[in-house]
Amino acid sequence: MKILVTGGLGFIGSHTVVELVNAGYEPVIVDDLSNSDPKILDQIARIIGYKPVFHKLDLSNEHSVKELAVNEPDIDGIIHFAAFKAVGESVQKPLKYYRNNFYSLINLLESYYGKPLNFVFSSSCTVYGQPEHLPVTEAAPVQPAQSPYGNTKQIAEEILQDMVASGSNYKVISLRYFNPVGAHETALIGELPIGVPQNLVPFITQTAIGKRQKITVFGNDYNTPDGSCVRDYIHVVDLAKAHVAALKLAEKDSFKGYDVFNIGTGKGNTVLDVIHAFERTTGVKLNYEIGPRRAGDVEKVWGDVTKSTNKLGWKAELGIDAMMASAWEWEKYIAQNPL
Ligand code: UD1
Repeated sequence: MKILVTGGLGFIGSHTVVELVNAGYEPVIVDDLSNSDPKILDQIARIIGYKPVFHKLDLSNEHSVKELAVNEPDIDGIIHFAAFKAVGESVQKPLKYYRNNFYSLINLLESYYGKPLNFVFSSSCTVYGQPEHLPVTEAAPVQPAQSPYGNTKQIAEEILQDMVASGSNYKVISLRYFNPVGAHETALIGELPIGVPQNLVPFITQTAIGKRQKITVFGNDYNTPDGSCVRDYIHVVDLAKAHVAALKLAEKDSFKGYDVFNIGTGKGNTVLDVIHAFERTTGVKLNYEIGPRRAGDVEKVWGDVTKSTNKLGWKAELGIDAMMASAWEWEKYIAQNPL
């Protein structure tokens, strides 16, 4: 089965391409390279043994997507990763985010409209804001978005539900990711932040390797076990496998319409837990300090994964130590083998 993977050269996309091939699918990658490197295609090829088909194109351009649908008419599914995702930048440049994230989604849906397709959408736990009850279930209310980025995820979920309700041929699964970290076991692919990393784990690994002087823990006065924020960190390979599970579910005749799943481990770790896990698994001491809170951070969130375990038949297998060890192997690899 042929699966279009938009954003397939990005962090989660590249790992998903590998897992799709492992599961017997044929990925077709689309990426505009705005936040990825074309050499990741060669890295993927080194893992899977061949270079997958790749189209460099901007999905927010309607004409390009129409052309794509003509050139790739016989696809069975779409996994839609391609989107801008920097929370802070989205507050500064909301139109950039709304334009890219919505136009891309709508162009894709319109261009393939009428075909019976399975569509997996990259959503985020950001839709829950600060949940009242933890672990948070899929039934928890979606909170008013804290950023234009978060808003694009919420509205995209609504667009997809409206489209399914209208009787289209699409079957849609939204996956609400918690915090994806780590890298492939070969260390040939991993997270490749452009500029100064905004996320915790790439900042940790870049500090450990000496690219950054120190890491700041954003606040230690939260109502959590050690005062730093709690997140549900999930290994990117487990997350990639969740996409294969979502396709398998959508392929079943019994699956109709639309559904949404939490994709996390079901466990929370504080920022300091993550730092200590990194030090423990790698033996590298991190230069860190406690700083002020970061605006917009939620205090604690981790997912209830009962629904994904039961209905998707998927469960995260790798823990925080494996996440840290693989992220570190990747950082060392990329330092020695710059792309
Ligand atoms: C947020 C969003 C997530 C989105 C992601 C995209 C929420 C709850 N999550 O993730 O949906 O997909 O951005 O980038 O809105 N931290 C430090 N020091 C650092 C960096 C981070 O202490 O240098 C802390 C943060 O305060 C936070 C944790 O590490 O508590 C994780 O931060 P980060 O990796 O940026 O992810 P989120 O903010 O959880």
